[in-house]
Amino acid sequence: MISVVACMEATCELSDPQASEALGKRIATQLQRGDVIALFGDLGAGKTTLSRGVLRGLGHAGPVPSPTFTLVQHYATDDLSVAHFDLYRLTSRDEIFELGLDEACHEGAVLIEWPEILDDALPEERLEVHLSDAGNGRSVRLVARGAWADRLSTLTI
Ligand SMILES: Nc1ncnc2c1ncn2[C@@H]1O[C@H](COP(=O)(O)OP(=O)(O)OP(=O)(O)O)[C@@H](O)[C@H]1O
Ligand SMILES: [Mg+2]
Repeated sequence: MISVVACMEATCELSDPQASEALGKRIATQLQRGDVIALFGDLGAGKTTLSRGVLRGLGHAGPVPSPTFTLVQHYATDDLSVAHFDLYRLTSRDEIFELGLDEACHEGAVLIEWPEILDDALPEERLEVHLSDAGNGRSVRLVARGAWADRLSTLTI
């Protein structure tokens, strides 16, 4: 099937963990109910660090632990509820729906680490964040699909 969803890409360098958090904070300024952020990258690429930045940007001051073992962490910030998933340990797609992905998308925004297992079940409108090693820091490729395409320029300044 031919996709008619607009798609824009941008890349930038994140020299340290603070830069990863700062990108998360910029994403937070654009985040709305129903938004899906898909975080790709190898073990230790910085997916949780960037997610922490998103939550800090939304005003959450408490801990933002990795959801590797709990599979999902829920947050209620002043403006938005956020569900932070980590699908690394899942072996079947059905489990993620049992974890409440659809409900979370309706209630607020979702951040998904290791989204590969969802494949074509990922909503077509989404922001993909692809993190990879670059020296001591990280490089990030942002792929903005649908409404995110219009918001992309505000993320890379
Ligand atoms: N831009 C960056 N430059 C250098 N180090 C970074 C950067 N961003 C994050 N890190 C560091 O990388 C380490 C791993 O980060 P993090 O836990 O966020 O990765 P992750 O992708 O969520 O890992 P996992 O795949 O295990 O969930 C942490 O020590 C973090 O401080
Ligand atoms: Mg993580």
